[in-house]
Amino acid sequence: MNIVIAGGHGQIALRLARLLSARGDAVLSLIRNPEQVDDVRETGAGPVIADLEYLAPDDLVDQLTGADAVVFAAGAGPGSGAERKDTVDRGASALMADAAERAGVRRFVQISSMGAGRPPSGGDETWAAYINAKTAAEDDLRARGLDWVILRPGRLTDDPGTGRVTLAEPEVGRGDVTRDDVAAVIAALLSEPKVNRTTLEVVNGDVPIDEAIANLT
Ligand SMILES: NC(=O)c1ccc[n+]([C@@H]2O[C@H](COP(=O)([O-])OP(=O)(O)OC[C@H]3O[C@@H](n4cnc5c(N)ncnc54)[C@H](OP(=O)(O)O)[C@@H]3O)[C@@H](O)[C@H]2O)c1
Repeated sequence: MNIVIAGGHGQIALRLARLLSARGDAVLSLIRNPEQVDDVRETGAGPVIADLEYLAPDDLVDQLTGADAVVFAAGAGPGSGAERKDTVDRGASALMADAAERAGVRRFVQISSMGAGRPPSGGDETWAAYINAKTAAEDDLRARGLDWVILRPGRLTDDPGTGRVTLAEPEVGRGDVTRDDVAAVIAALLSEPKVNRTTLEVVNGDVPIDEAIANLT
């Protein structure tokens, strides 16, 4: 498969690019910082410079044409304020979905967050902006005719992957999940077109990832 990853230097994105490249998929990773080119190349992916806060959908059509799927793995990240939650977590996802439609790419996997889909509770103003941006990005994607999957991970950790998850439609309940396992779930979702137009939550659990995906079909 040909896969385009938006936010290609993200911690999940780099893991995903390694997994996909290792199984023979061709990966293009969109990054905004040229200093990250070597890190991306080490995963086996091809880096493309694209700042998703400053492009229009048509600017991305050439890069996306011929791809089998787009994965939205970008995020404004810790330390960013409310404005960038909107321009990246919502705006860049909508931009990629729009570009995917124009390029004829039907499959779109969006990394969202547990907590999205309802009014933010607890946390400060920035947390509320983050949850609202993720919710708006999800709503934007659901309104499109794409073959989308929204994946809401629990709290991300850098522990080694376990290969075992709880993966289901909301709500699975709060919990941690390793970035390794989120990347492995996305790789498996990309190979299973029958899991389509659905919102999933994932935390670490007892079920092997392939079995968890098979249980959804
Ligand atoms: N932390 C958690 O516990 C948690 C829980 C659930 C879901 N999530 C979500 O999961 C997703 C992936 O997590 P992660 O840890 O892999 O994220 P991450 O390491 O913060 O990666 C996000 C990537 O997005 C890129 N990005 C930011 N602005 C961009 C722009 N304008 N154009 C292009 N790329 C841009 C960043 O690039 P730069 O290096 O250039 O900034 C970075 O590489 C995020 O959306 C996050 O919100 C997080």
